[in-house]
Amino acid sequence: MHKTILTTPDGASYPILTGSGLLNTAGAEIAAIKAPCRVMIVSDKNVAPLYMEQAKKSFAGAGFTVSEFVVNPGEESKSIAVFGALLEAFCEAHMTRADLAVALGGGVIGDLTGFAAGCYLRGIPFVQLPTTLLAAVDASVGGKTAVNLDHGKNLAGVFHQPLAVICDTDTLQTLSQHEIHDGSAEAIKHGILDDTALFEIYEHGDPESSYEEIIVRSVIYKSKIVTEDPNEKGVRKLLNLGHTAAHAIERLSDFGISHGHAVAIGTAIVTRAAVRRGLLAADAGERILFTLRRAGLPVVSPFSPDDMARIAAIDKKAAASDITVILPEAIGRCRMEKIPISALSALFADGQEAPA
Ligand code: GLY
Repeated sequence: MHKTILTTPDGASYPILTGSGLLNTAGAEIAAIKAPCRVMIVSDKNVAPLYMEQAKKSFAGAGFTVSEFVVNPGEESKSIAVFGALLEAFCEAHMTRADLAVALGGGVIGDLTGFAAGCYLRGIPFVQLPTTLLAAVDASVGGKTAVNLDHGKNLAGVFHQPLAVICDTDTLQTLSQHEIHDGSAEAIKHGILDDTALFEIYEHGDPESSYEEIIVRSVIYKSKIVTEDPNEKGVRKLLNLGHTAAHAIERLSDFGISHGHAVAIGTAIVTRAAVRRGLLAADAGERILFTLRRAGLPVVSPFSPDDMARIAAIDKKAAASDITVILPEAIGRCRMEKIPISALSALFADGQEAPA
């Protein structure tokens, strides 16, 4: 088992545990830092049949009083309606501030549960038990929580750090290839931002036999960034590499293109744009595009630069008339650049695949 401690500037700190068999010991791990209480385990209809009983047994065996809340799988559950239903379920279970919400699943479950935990009674503790590669390398760490609004993705949410993150790597065995590819996009993103060794696992290594290392490297990098900037006022914006176009692509596809696949396309767009603008060497750009494709990911947007820019303009990351975009300068180093929203379409156009 690998343990990373994430410490926030206000002095709170929490463990991020990664390893095989951790679902069985999650209850005992939490009992070591929290007195027995009520626990509501939130999951979805794909994950619950696989892991809910194991998670319940783990927490009940450690002395917790356990109940469950299971939602439909997919982005549709990151809604105000499901958020409201979860808050009512907390009430029905007589949850107090001394009690605990547990997110058992992928990014949708973590975001939904964290947001409900952050709002219920002005905040109760929660634990992340990520069961997807995407949640393990990214979404479960750092306390970003949210649901979507009709106007866009993640537009309602709070920063609410978990009490612990426990990733049982055995749960990755039941993921589809599509879900593995989704998580790979975020891990490759961390490689491009900071960690050439992580990037190279995807470029010419064997990711399938390296998931624990991939998760641990991602978690260490992300913890460093979140420790420095928990509320995304500065360096945390780097983690949005590829995300401005990605959120637009997800919405334009009506979420038919999943988050990681959209991030891969968004990363390819800023990579080509950085090469075209002389910020990134052409061979480094080629390596990024090759590595995304090698990981089974798409690198071309089905949507026009104008359409993506129109949707991105109402993304929450657009502050006034400017938007911060992240551009690769080398593998392992990226820069933040504030540009006028009116310049976004031209940036996306620079990032379109060159005609054959
Ligand atoms: N997923 C990006 C972040 O947590 O800031």
